[in-house]
Amino acid sequence: MVTSNLVAASALRVEEVCKSFPVLDVPGTSRPALGGISFSIAASELVSLVGPSGCGKSTLLRLIAGLDFPDSGELLVDEEKILGPSAARGLVFQDPNLFPWLTVRRNIEAGLVARGVLQEKRHEVDDFMRLVGLETFGRSYPHHLSGGMSQRVALARALINHPKVLLLDEPLGALDAFTRMRMQDEVLHLWENRRTTMLLVTHDIDEAIYMSDRILVMTSAPGRIDREIDIDLGRPRDRTSESFLRLRSEILEHLHFAGKAADVSA
Ligand SMILES: Nc1ncnc2c1ncn2[C@@H]1O[C@H](COP(=O)(O)OP(=O)(O)OP(=O)(O)O)[C@@H](O)[C@H]1O
Ligand SMILES: [Mg+2]
Repeated sequence: MVTSNLVAASALRVEEVCKSFPVLDVPGTSRPALGGISFSIAASELVSLVGPSGCGKSTLLRLIAGLDFPDSGELLVDEEKILGPSAARGLVFQDPNLFPWLTVRRNIEAGLVARGVLQEKRHEVDDFMRLVGLETFGRSYPHHLSGGMSQRVALARALINHPKVLLLDEPLGALDAFTRMRMQDEVLHLWENRRTTMLLVTHDIDEAIYMSDRILVMTSAPGRIDREIDIDLGRPRDRTSESFLRLRSEILEHLHFAGKAADVSA
């Protein structure tokens, strides 16, 4: 298990962010992907972002990661404007994006190498391989791994940098149901130990309720924050409790996937 070295977490603020992309079929035109998004995440908060496919969740995470820039609006970490990528903002994509020519161990070490801290942090690699259940796969290459195992390597590679903000874009989506639930607990355990600020994109409402302090619900075309839901349930959470199921039903109703839900404020 990873030791509990508390890392200073960062607060995140997104203000009136708009982003459009060119429509290739109609030259000279663009389509808005994000239409004025504003929200804040406190340091050490764990927030989930849910919404229909194509509503702009990944676009938003890429902007926070500094991999792309907004057309207008501001993104700030601890009141400092985001001007580009940083190891302090870790991102785990839907696709694991591993280096195919490196072993699992070397893939996890890659972040340390990039920061020039491999020598002093090498001892943590075993901890993180154990964390994601790949301690016996250190010498394997990505093509030896299942999709889920690859995603676990990607998660370990981000976590080993001890980011102050961790951006998770459906990181557990490729895992089987049991591994996914175990990983949810592992990520939560890590969050409880280190209090890293986390923004988790997920299509799994149960995962959002199980893990988050707060859920941001997005709508599409263009992407906007439609609603914020505080999850005032103690941890560890019981996925079968009445309050959990009531929240689940309400959020599904909001996303138009379910029948009539109970009023969560009741
Ligand atoms: N680089 C790009 N060029 C053109 N359009 C883009 C680009 N990236 C995203 N888009 C468009 O922006 C919109 C939002 O895409 P995005 O990938 O952020 O959605 P998403 O909410 O993450 O969807 P999903 O849940 O399916 O992952 C989509 O209409 C998409 O086609
Ligand atoms: Mg996406």
